[in-house]
Amino acid sequence: MKKAEAHYPFLLACRKQPTPYTPIWLMRQAGRYMKEYRTLRKTFSFLEMCKNPEVAAQVTLQPIEKFKLDAAIIFSDILIPLEPMGVEFEFAKGEGPVFHHPIRELKQIEQLRVIEPERDVPFLMEAIRIVRRELEGKIPLIGFSGAPFTLASYMIEGGHSRNYILTKGMMYQNPTSWDCLMGKICETLISYLNAQIRAGAQALQIFDSWVGCLSPQDYKEYVFPYSKRVMDGVDRSVPLIHFATSSSTLLEPMKQAGGDVIGVDWRINLKEAWARIGEGIAIQGNLDPVILFSPVGLIEREVKRILDQAENRPGHIFNLGHGILPNTPVEHVAALVEMVHEYSSRS
Ligand code: CP3
Repeated sequence: MKKAEAHYPFLLACRKQPTPYTPIWLMRQAGRYMKEYRTLRKTFSFLEMCKNPEVAAQVTLQPIEKFKLDAAIIFSDILIPLEPMGVEFEFAKGEGPVFHHPIRELKQIEQLRVIEPERDVPFLMEAIRIVRRELEGKIPLIGFSGAPFTLASYMIEGGHSRNYILTKGMMYQNPTSWDCLMGKICETLISYLNAQIRAGAQALQIFDSWVGCLSPQDYKEYVFPYSKRVMDGVDRSVPLIHFATSSSTLLEPMKQAGGDVIGVDWRINLKEAWARIGEGIAIQGNLDPVILFSPVGLIEREVKRILDQAENRPGHIFNLGHGILPNTPVEHVAALVEMVHEYSSRS
């Protein structure tokens, strides 16, 4: 850790160092639940916002100006590196991402490009540089990417999927295609994440949002080697958070694949998660985002329960178990951040 960063509770917690209170940030902390976001979104489409460095920087900072969060996350999307790889998609209204030419054949995979981030996604690097200037001395900035499995699932299925039939189909029946696709994604992610560090990202999170659909055996065989390859290839002078949902049966191999911090969702008790991955590693989580729709008293009860499970161990980063949902009451988010700081105060 650079000397100037040693006072940031978030970065200290990533390294399992003691902190005066439990740091908190929220996945998708910039987004539709904020009216400032919805106002800007009337002028720009979501992808236009991602690709305009000034706007992306502005959106990144919106929740920071409003709440006492301990880290910012750059406003972008896990799908952003796919377009320069040669996989086009759009966000259809109300449907999420839609890929018009999903990747199903080895020939298509062979044609995929490995991206050069400074050339192919310059807007992201510029947004990171702008935000770093704005946040200097205040809080650190997190860069991110999807993990190989989650990105492959979007490319193969052509959008969000319920059962991952085509993804698992390639995995089981077409090992050459699977290895070639996962290999190209790995190469892209290594250069994409290292470029974010060079631009100024002070920590990284890898989102393996949908890997919980796999059995532990399949995770080890078809995903582990690639997730490990990415994390081994990234400059580890910055801490790395390895996040997945529905992953309680995958925690041990996820830890082996890499990460200074393992991100867990609400489906597992934090204490149990820690017992499974071992004390030597930090944990991020794990409030159910739906709890934020409840009255403040109930949110308080859940926050205390999570902090009790963490037992004041160094290395707990408070977060939701998954992204904050649209329509979440803003005042509940403010109350959550205050509560976590107050109830975890160790000074
Ligand atoms: O956390 C942050 O604040 C940084 C920004 C961020 C976004 N997406 C903004 C976004 C991050 C880290 C992501 C990650 C992401 N994107 C993931 C992994 C995390 C997770 O939720 O599991 C995934 C799977 C995606 C892909 C994606 N992007 C989907 C499926 C959708 C549509 C569903 C939805 O929530 O609308 C998006 C769109 C998206 N990404 C929005 C935002 C703010 C909403 C865009 C809008 O304004 O309409």
